[in-house]
Amino acid sequence: MRVDRFLSNLPQFNRQQVRLLLIEKRIQVDGQIICDPRHEIRAFSHIEFDGQVLQAGKPARYFMLHKPPGCVSATQDPEHPTVLDLLDEPDKHELHIAGRLDFNTSGLMLITNDGHWSRRLTQPQTKLPKVYYVETEQPITAAYVTKFNEGVYFAYEDLTTLPAELELLGPRSARLSIVEGRYHQVKRMFGFFDNKVVGLHRESIGALVLDSQLAPGQYRALSPPEILLF
Ligand code: URA
Repeated sequence: MRVDRFLSNLPQFNRQQVRLLLIEKRIQVDGQIICDPRHEIRAFSHIEFDGQVLQAGKPARYFMLHKPPGCVSATQDPEHPTVLDLLDEPDKHELHIAGRLDFNTSGLMLITNDGHWSRRLTQPQTKLPKVYYVETEQPITAAYVTKFNEGVYFAYEDLTTLPAELELLGPRSARLSIVEGRYHQVKRMFGFFDNKVVGLHRESIGALVLDSQLAPGQYRALSPPEILLF
């Protein structure tokens, strides 16, 4: 919501007063004086007028986790450990996963309480490249590079996947970059060639690369510049 709308919605200010308050530099958002009436504020923003708190704001939280294989990308599961079990944080019920991984897939997973941020990151229009290291049962050939670049037809959704980049690394290993996040997408793309994926690891999402210091199961908070990547 725009800051001018937020202020006008409060009982103590009318629109004319709001315009003046902003010009007179009396409004601060997250510690910064805001004059632009179009400035966007969120549930997380801390908003003050002459030092008086108008909205306390919740701290936004962002984590990167090195998901190990053998845990579920869900907040609760009756049978298996979940990725949230790996986090030692308060109010875990407020957190959600931005971009799931399959039970046996490892790698970069992002967890946050900021729905705006995670939506931007996961919505198909964003076309954020997700890079996976893939190991397969059968050899991977140059035909895969061409096919993945052309797109693979998924009958269930009646769609063709967007062009994906495949780099061959070894006879049965490759690096795949996809810009979508369809259900079991990587496994189904290799399934086109009847080639089973036996190892799958997400290395990066957009410009954010999994921290090599994090062992499987470990996590850390994202830094402010990392949060701003999305
Ligand atoms: N594609 C898959 O098939 N599985 C994942 O976990 C991620 C992408």
